Amino acid sequence: MSEVRARDPGVVTFDGPAASGKSTVAERVAAVLGVPCVSSGLLYRVATLLATGAGAALDDADAVLSVLDAHAVELRPGLGGDAVRVDGDDVTAALHSDAVDAAVSRVAAHPAVRAWVDARLREMPRPFVIDGRDMGSVVFPDAAHKFYLTAAPEVRAARRVGERAADLADVADAIRRRDALDARQLAPAPDAQHLDTSALDLDQVVEWVLGRLSVAATP
Ligand code: DC
Repeated sequence: MSEVRARDPGVVTFDGPAASGKSTVAERVAAVLGVPCVSSGLLYRVATLLATGAGAALDDADAVLSVLDAHAVELRPGLGGDAVRVDGDDVTAALHSDAVDAAVSRVAAHPAVRAWVDARLREMPRPFVIDGRDMGSVVFPDAAHKFYLTAAPEVRAARRVGERAADLADVADAIRRRDALDARQLAPAPDAQHLDTSALDLDQVVEWVLGRLSVAATP
């Protein structure tokens, strides 16, 4: 058994910009540690899904919050990934649609929506690994291990589109726009360990993180 697993990792946070690879790295690290992995963006996504579904004005924080208050939203961390339920129904599959992608930054910009998300995250039983934009800085400042992953916009775009080179410039532009919209939320914790993953593959990033957690990749 690994050293970290034996002494309970508590909360391990991964923050960084869109498509920086943080969620994939978080999932791999959580699997090695044997703890659930949570994607905080799912709560912003479900808030967006519910608000748009109800026809709420997305720039009106009170309108969005009153939609949220009308539903029972549950984030269920699991060893194979997390799931979101609304009034008992699993809506996870609907959270990565283009419509949600396009609107989620507007919803996530409201401090009141952020407080709603943060309260749900803080209720979750520990230990877990979590990814987001402000997990180490705002939501879990007491986390035992904090990581901040970045990569150049062109690299993040290339990872998104895979081999389809024709789409690269458009995707890189979309990523830059999203960076600008998310910039206010993207606050690295002063005590986070930073890694620019531009020149690294997934295995190398995971290995780097596990090295900092004093745990081997194959426990
Ligand atoms: O990580 P993701 O792509 O699922 O995040 C969806 C959106 O939610 C993204 O535009 C930024 C926002 N977000 C945020 O503001 N704070 C977080 N902790 C996580 C996500």
